[in-house]
Amino acid sequence: MTPSVLFHAKENPRARIWVKLEGQNPSGSVKDRAAIYNIKGAIKRGTLVDGKTILDASSGNMACSLAYFGAVMGYPVTVVCSSKLTEDKARFIQYFGAKLLKIGDYTIDGNRYCRNTLMASEPERYVFLDQLHNWDNSLAHYETTGREIMADLPDVQVVVGSLGSGGTMNGVARFIKERKSSIKIVTVEAAAGTKIPGTGAFADGDFITPFIEQLWRDGLVDHRCEVTIEQAQIKTKELAAQGFFCGIQAGGVVEIAVRIATEQNITGDVLAIAGDTGWKNMDKLITL
Ligand SMILES: Cc1ncc(COP(=O)(O)O)c(C=O)c1O
Repeated sequence: MTPSVLFHAKENPRARIWVKLEGQNPSGSVKDRAAIYNIKGAIKRGTLVDGKTILDASSGNMACSLAYFGAVMGYPVTVVCSSKLTEDKARFIQYFGAKLLKIGDYTIDGNRYCRNTLMASEPERYVFLDQLHNWDNSLAHYETTGREIMADLPDVQVVVGSLGSGGTMNGVARFIKERKSSIKIVTVEAAAGTKIPGTGAFADGDFITPFIEQLWRDGLVDHRCEVTIEQAQIKTKELAAQGFFCGIQAGGVVEIAVRIATEQNITGDVLAIAGDTGWKNMDKLITL
């Protein structure tokens, strides 16, 4: 259970913007939830057994989660990351003893490398978790994140989160809409030409997973919003000034939460899911 903390939006003092601090998870991000569900799912199915190496591709936070849980649970881990990986995350992965490979500019490049190269050459060595297609990713958020939000803020009117793999918002949206369809689900994407961790820029070629397709196809998203890197950076600084030590993704989702609350004249509870902690992003934050 991660805490939700009230943010004071100076441009809209009537809005009640809550920030759910996913950086409080053990390895510092929301991806811990999907990682543990993907690992436990593989154990349950009998594919992950002693001696096998956990394998997946990630833009960074999932790689940290797998390195951490692999070390704790006694499995070797190989992670394939893209050029977007921050220095801080690379050091974390190294500290927890995982093997790190750098392939391509998108997580899907690494995903294909896992499937077509590593799995093809050594199928008996690896268990490829495949977070971009593995429904345990979304299940984690259906069973934990969505449930926590409803328990913490039963009167929440709007839930805002970014789309990376889409696992978080798929699970959260399905859980919430099944219980109270009037709650608005708002997803955040990066504007074209913008790189924000955990926030896909789909116009620029970021991969659209089955979880994102389902969100769009089944009408689970009330508003699709875009944020620029400048807007995300400004809000991240405002968050920091109020004591929130989060990554740039948090600035993006809080910017959109304030925008929606203002546009829709909402005075009740609005929740933004902040995906990770600041220390994972110091090489980006320090330049702000
Ligand atoms: C900081 C951060 N926030 C949010 C997300 C989005 O999570 P999901 O992959 O479940 O869409 C990610 C995913 O990489 C992330 O790293």
